[in-house]
Parts: sequence; structure tokens; C-alpha cells
Amino acid sequence: MSAGAPDPLWYRKAIFYEVSVKSFFDSNADGIGDFPGLTQKLEYLVDLGVNCLWLLPFYRSPLKDDGYDIADYYNINPDYGTLEDFQTFLHEAHRRGLKVIADLVMNHVSDQCPWFQEARVNPKSPKRDWFVWSDTDRKYSGTRVIFLDTERSNWTWDPVAGQYFWHRFYGHQPDLNYDNPAVREEMKNVVRFWLKVGLDGFRCDAVPYLFEREGTSCENLPETHAFLKEIRALVDREFPGCVLLAEANQWPSDVKAYFGQEDEFQMAFNFPLMPRIFMALRKEDRTAVVDIIQQTLPIPKSCAWGIFLRNHDELTLEMVTDEERDFMYHEYARHPKMRLNLGIRRRLAPLVDDDRATLEMLHGLLFSLPGVPILYYGDELGMGDNIYLGDRNGVRTPMQWSPDRNAGFSRADTELLYNPVIVNPNFHYEARNVEAEMRLPTSLLRWVRYLIQVRHELDPILGEGEIRFLDLPNRKVLAYLRSRGSEHLLCVYNLSKSPTAAEISLPEFNGWTPVEALSGTPFPKIGELPYFFTLGPHAFFWFRLQGPHEPAG
Ligand code: GLC
Ligand code: CA
Repeated sequence: MSAGAPDPLWYRKAIFYEVSVKSFFDSNADGIGDFPGLTQKLEYLVDLGVNCLWLLPFYRSPLKDDGYDIADYYNINPDYGTLEDFQTFLHEAHRRGLKVIADLVMNHVSDQCPWFQEARVNPKSPKRDWFVWSDTDRKYSGTRVIFLDTERSNWTWDPVAGQYFWHRFYGHQPDLNYDNPAVREEMKNVVRFWLKVGLDGFRCDAVPYLFEREGTSCENLPETHAFLKEIRALVDREFPGCVLLAEANQWPSDVKAYFGQEDEFQMAFNFPLMPRIFMALRKEDRTAVVDIIQQTLPIPKSCAWGIFLRNHDELTLEMVTDEERDFMYHEYARHPKMRLNLGIRRRLAPLVDDDRATLEMLHGLLFSLPGVPILYYGDELGMGDNIYLGDRNGVRTPMQWSPDRNAGFSRADTELLYNPVIVNPNFHYEARNVEAEMRLPTSLLRWVRYLIQVRHELDPILGEGEIRFLDLPNRKVLAYLRSRGSEHLLCVYNLSKSPTAAEISLPEFNGWTPVEALSGTPFPKIGELPYFFTLGPHAFFWFRLQGPHEPAG
């Protein structure tokens, strides 16, 4: 990012970009994206303005859960390239000032992993105790099943072992036994291995589930937090400046606990916020967003929320009430194929019926609510999805580069692609791709690029500033001030699909001038009376507030 001494809080000013190696660019025409391909496309990411890539799991795996089922933690899936290709990629990314973090799957392995294979065949092997076995499937009965559509229990009978094994996800993903010190040590070795190779941190997968205790939900246990703190201490001691980002899909107070006392995770996904943004939009009422932001603040000073609109999974509705979930399904997932487990498997643009104003407004929120924005590859193009592909594959289709064969993703025969490209007429890759959108000055891609640039210019306020919600009577309008010292950004959103008006009372800014931040256009001065706005459908504004004695510009 900047020359000179490295900034240990770099992540707070960064924009993250989630990308799957498999989906980005195929360099050797086998239909599967790879590290040399990703390396070739780094310039695109630099131009987009993102600062940190989050790579989905790229380790050896039978890919029954798209790589979250790891068979070998110390090697790369050969389809994606070699360790050398990975090192070249890292070097090229770092050379361009990009940081790179990767998924660290601590909770479970693939049933193909040699550790599990050894454990199941030989009860005397030291590996046996690396997993959680039981003679009955009734232990830990207070624990919910996460993959509801496919799993009936967290226990699966293993005929070879003659016992049940414990798993929080698919039945082919046995959980590791964190009560065993050898498991804890091994996971630390995995962390050391990849940070030595040069990663800048990890997105730590499924962290609430590491330990099990009878009579509990087996989530967020004190033992789990204690081990995660050991990982953090290791990272701080041996690899200072590296970041740990928690995937803990939990209620607000439980997620906040993952920051610890600045001694656990530096970052955590703001899972509670995400569905409530979509809810506020269709309810045309800001309440859900205001309430949840207030519940998710404050957090320790060096920590940051990771904010996202969509990711590689279903839009999860685990942490909302039943009534809210019904509302969300009704608004966003009328077709049964759009649903998966407790969530909605659609990409951003299709979710909002490809409405440009809504897409812009959602990005306005993503880039100005407190936290670090995390983009999901392809959403900057308004990429479509394919709800007829199984599991979550419909939101993991190839990146669309050009109107050429296979959207320019691969020169392979089309039948070879790991997933088909999007050909739905409303989202066809021939129009929705990087080349076409770069040519069109008004495209979503060009707009997102510009917004990222503006966000970087407003970095100190948006990265570190406080938030204060403004309480205006019209609840269709969400308005807040982001402030840092004497710098203020006023953000105003019309959540509704109809034009609306809002009066915002800003007595302390009497005599100040709102300057629209995307265009630099000055608006009339704020006076003694409430400031009056009219907003078109789903319109949003960011205003820099210019003090009476500040020079214009
Ligand atoms: C996380 C990942 C998801 C995966 C699951 C099991 O929730 O985001 O893709 O299926 O963990 O590893
Ligand atoms: Ca390839």
C-alpha cells in the first residue's frame, strides 16, 4: 500500500476481494482456473482498487465441499497449479501492493484425509483420537444441524471404525478433536507453514465449533476462544502484521466475543448486519439496520468488522427470527431452487432484480458503514447466477472476462468447464463481462471502480470514524454521519422504490456546506431549519461537510 514502515493496522483501510482460484482464469485450457491464471489477472484487481485478496481453499481436496473438505493441508490442489505457481502468484501480488489471505479450515477435514483414514482403520493408531468418536449418536444432543437439507444428524456411522464420528457439516467432513493437544499443535503447524510461504493472514472457517461439551450448544465455548487466542498469540509473535478474520455466523454478542480483548481476531464478518440490509430494503424501513449496527458496536480499537453483501455461500438466514426468514424468502426466493439450508443461493444482482439504483445504494452502504468492505468476485460486474446448479455452485460460475468463448475464462472445450458460464438472457456473459463493461463509461464495473477510488480518498473518515444515526421521522430514509475529528461525511439513503423527501436536523452544522462526494458538487448551505432533501427511488448521497471557514474544493 504505502512505502515506509509497514502499518500493522493495514486491514482497516483495505478493501477485500473474495476470489476462488478455480473460478478466475484458466491458463492451461483444462476448464479449471489456476494460480498462473490468477497471476495473469492481478492487474485487473489492482485497477479495480482492492487491496487484499481472500482466496477460497486451494489445498488438496476431493472437492465435495468445494475445497472446504481438505485432504492435505500442506499441498495445493494440482488442478490449481504447484506450490511454485502459488509462490509466484504471491510474489506478483505483493509486488503490486496487494495482500493475500486464504481460508484456514480448522474445524474439520475431508474423510479422504490420511489422518482420518488411519483413524478409522486402526483403533490403536494415535490418529484415532484426532477425531470425535462415540458408540451412540445421542451425545451432544443440544447441537443444531447446520446443513439441514442434506444432514439429519451431526453423527455419522463409520462401518470400518465401528463407531459414530462427529461432524458439524457434511457427513464426509469429520470434525477434528481439539481436546487432543496433538491436533492443536498440528493446526499451529499449518498456520506456520502458510505464513512462512508468505500469506498475510487467514479467513478462519467455522471457528465457533472447535470444541464439544455435553449440555451445551457446542458453539462459542470458552475452550474454543482459548485456543483461538493461542493462534493469535502465535501469529503476533512469529508473523506480526498478519491478520485473522473470523467466520462466526452467530448473534451479535456472540460474534463480538471473537475480538476478545484485542487478543483474538482482528476482524470478524458482520453476519448479523448482512441479512438486515436486505430486509431494510424490502421493508422500506431503516430500523433493522440501525438496530443491528448499534448492537454490533463498539468493538476494540484495533479490530474491524468485515462487511459483505454476498459471498460464496447461500445468503444465510440462520441468525434472524422465523418471521424475518419467511419475509426474506418471500421477497428474495420465491422459486424453491433459490433456497438452500436456511438461506438463499443467489448472487447480488439477481437478488435485487438487477436494479441499478439499488445496486449502487447497496454499495454505498457497503462502503460507508463501519468496517472493511469485502467484495465477492463478479459482483462488480453485476454477474448473474444459475439456480439449477447443485449446492452453492450457482454463485461460483466462471468469472466473465470478454464476449469470447467461455466468457474469455478458458480456451477449453465448453463441456470441460468446471461449471457452465451464465447465459441467462438478462445476465448473459456476452454483455456482462470485464471487456464490455470497461468500454461502457456508465457500466456497473466502471461505477464500482470509481466508488472504490472515492472510498480510498475518504479513508480516514470511513476507515476509522465514528457513526451517528440521524433520527428523522421518515423511516424510509437512512441517514448517518461518519465523523473523525473535524471531518464529517453525511450519508443519506432512500431505501424505498418510490421518490421520497426527508428533513434532516443538523443544528451543529449551521453555516456548513454539504459537498456531494462523488461529483464534488456543492449544495446550498445548511441553515437553522432542518435541511431538506428529495431523493429518487433507491437514491443515495454522500456529502462531505465543509466548515464555514474551510476553503472550497
Ligand atoms: C464455511 C464455508 C462453507 C463451507 C463450510 C464447511 O461455512 O464458508 O462454504 O461449506 O464452512 O466447511
Ligand atoms: Ca487450468
